[in-house]
Amino acid sequence: MPRQIIPATALLLAGALGNAASGGTELLMPDFDAALGRTLFASKGCVVCHSVNGIGGEDAPVLDFDKDTGPMNPFEFAARMWRGAGAMIYMQEEELGGQIELTGPELAAIIAFAHDPEEQARFSMDDIPEYILDVMHGASEEHEDDEADADHDDAPDSGEDHD
Ligand code: HEC
Repeated sequence: MPRQIIPATALLLAGALGNAASGGTELLMPDFDAALGRTLFASKGCVVCHSVNGIGGEDAPVLDFDKDTGPMNPFEFAARMWRGAGAMIYMQEEELGGQIELTGPELAAIIAFAHDPEEQARFSMDDIPEYILDVMHGASEEHEDDEADADHDDAPDSGEDHD
C-alpha cells in the first residue's frame, strides 16, 4: 500500500464521526480531545517529569509543540513513548510509585494536547491536582538533597518518606 499522509483535520473529523481509519482495516480513530488531554497531562502525572508552557519537571524532554514540525502522525508520538519506555517506567516507579495507566482514549487526548498550541498556552498550575503537586514537590526536594532541610522541618529531607 502506498504511504499515505492523513491531514490532522481528517483525523479529527474521523475521530468525531467514529470513522474507520482506512479502507480494509477494522480500525476506528479515537476522539482527539486536547482540552481533556490538558487535564490528563497533569492528573496522570506526565507533568512531574515533562514540561509544557514552562510548567512541569525538567527530568524528561519538553513536550511543547514545535510549530515548525507541522502536523504530526499521532502514532509517531506513541512510538517515541515506546522508545523512552524503559527509562520512563523506571522513573515512574521511583517518583509515582508505579507505572502510569492509560486507556486508548486517554492516550489520544494527551497526544492531541501535545500537538495543540492553543490548548498548551492554556496550561497552568491550576490544572495540576494537589496529589500531583505533592509528588512534584517531593521530586524537586530529592534534587535538593545537598541543600540541608529544604522544607524547614527538623528532619533531613533525604530521610523523609515522599509517598
Ligand atoms: C517519572 C518521569 C516521567 C513521567 C511521569 C513521564 N515521563 Fe515521558 N519520559 C521520561 C523520560 C526520562 C524520557 C526520556 C527517555 C529516554 O530518552 O530514553 C521520557 C520520554 C517521553 C517521550 C519521548 C520524548 C522524545 O523526545 O522522544 C514522550 C513522547 C513521553 N515521554 C511522553 C510522556 C507522557 C504522555 C507521559 C504521561 C502519560 C509521560 N511521558 C510521563 C520521564 C517521564
